[in-house]
Amino acid sequence: MEILKVKGGNELNGEIKIGGAKNSAVALVPAAILSNGVVIENVPEISDVRFLEEIVTYLGGEFCKEGSKITIDSTRVKNREITLAHSQRLRASYYFMGALLGKFKRAEMYFPGGCQIGTRPINLHLEAFEKLGATVSCEDNKFVIEAKKLVGTDIDFAFASVGATINTILAAVLAEGITTINNAAMEPEIGNLIAFLNSMGAKITGKDTGTVVIEGVKKLSGGSTKVIPDRIEAGTYILAGALAGNNLKISDLEPKHLESFLDKLKQIGVDMVVNEDNIVVSKSNNLKPVDIITETYPGFPTDLQQPITSLLLTCNGESTVKETIYENRFQNIKYLQAMGADIKIDGDTINIKKSSRLKGNETMATDLRAGAGLILAGLIAEGETTVTEARHVLRGYENIIRKLTAVGVEIELDNV
Ligand code: EPU
Repeated sequence: MEILKVKGGNELNGEIKIGGAKNSAVALVPAAILSNGVVIENVPEISDVRFLEEIVTYLGGEFCKEGSKITIDSTRVKNREITLAHSQRLRASYYFMGALLGKFKRAEMYFPGGCQIGTRPINLHLEAFEKLGATVSCEDNKFVIEAKKLVGTDIDFAFASVGATINTILAAVLAEGITTINNAAMEPEIGNLIAFLNSMGAKITGKDTGTVVIEGVKKLSGGSTKVIPDRIEAGTYILAGALAGNNLKISDLEPKHLESFLDKLKQIGVDMVVNEDNIVVSKSNNLKPVDIITETYPGFPTDLQQPITSLLLTCNGESTVKETIYENRFQNIKYLQAMGADIKIDGDTINIKKSSRLKGNETMATDLRAGAGLILAGLIAEGETTVTEARHVLRGYENIIRKLTAVGVEIELDNV
């Protein structure tokens, strides 16, 4: 088991460069099998991408890495069942449902894995496949999705799901006719995917508008793209700077993708300067409490909810965070309480009071962002904080030990 150990009390200065977005890369790699050969740049070095590489290779594709650039040759990709082990290693394995269905008109795989932060059903994905003309059967948790042909149609999502929007695009791109997705998710990672597919010859419009229109094409050719900066990684390190920074520079980011988050930091009174592609942030006193509600993009991202909770512990007064996306994303709270945090859970909302003295403790990364939030709390706690199940953190934060060590954090990873 991997355990992270972080010592509190150090001042952070220097620069952290943000890598490519996990939630983009994990959609772009499965999308690559729709074409024959693609190049993707700025791919983060995280285990979720390595798991997807295993699946592409298992299907017969060739995956070649040169630094952060990957080349995928899908000429020999065959339609095989995505095994139980592959399906359950990460959430994004389910993008092979849409991609295989689009390419071969048949996909077989199991319910996907990923962070246990709620029930995370996939009904919207399956309903969209059915609307495109596929039949879906499920036995012993294994889905078989197949179609004689896929035909474009109008799809109205009851909820703007990121995963369902991406899977529908992947399935519809080679369908006959036009597919319109109403109430599509607008997260920047979806725009990245659309640009990638269009570079292969797809005809998709409407990114960032909530209505995505896909005009089916017969074939996709080679394509290329660059993964957009990881807005959640950026937000996490900006919070590190707000907790313990002295002119800590977070660079290679896209401030436009972080607007609702930066608005909250401004309300709190965080000392930061927002530049074109970097943010310089320092620890400041007299921070004000705020109320946060997580929402779909462009609202406040659920993925920064657990990380920002650690900053709210330093605000004078009582803050609240209401989680509206997942039913079970407060698993970090009991560990923060054990460190001395004054937080109460009330249904889908937490009330956070200023907690002047946190003490290092043994904690657990129950999920990726919970782990990130606990590391942040560890930066300001007295003594050492250990975070077990650190594999969750490593699934989504590229070189986190190296990046934090370089700016002055005493942090190490033990394998026990
Ligand atoms: N939902 C349904 N039915 C569906 C699909 C979704 O009820 O068919 C519900 C889910 O249960 C959940 C909510 O809708 O409560 C949000 O789900 P969504 O489909 O939007 O999210 P996702 O595709 O499962 C992606 C990211 C998450 C991120 C969310 C929201 C990937 C691999 N995962 O998940 O990232 O929280 O969008 O932005 O892209 C993370 O990085 O830590 C993470 C969990």
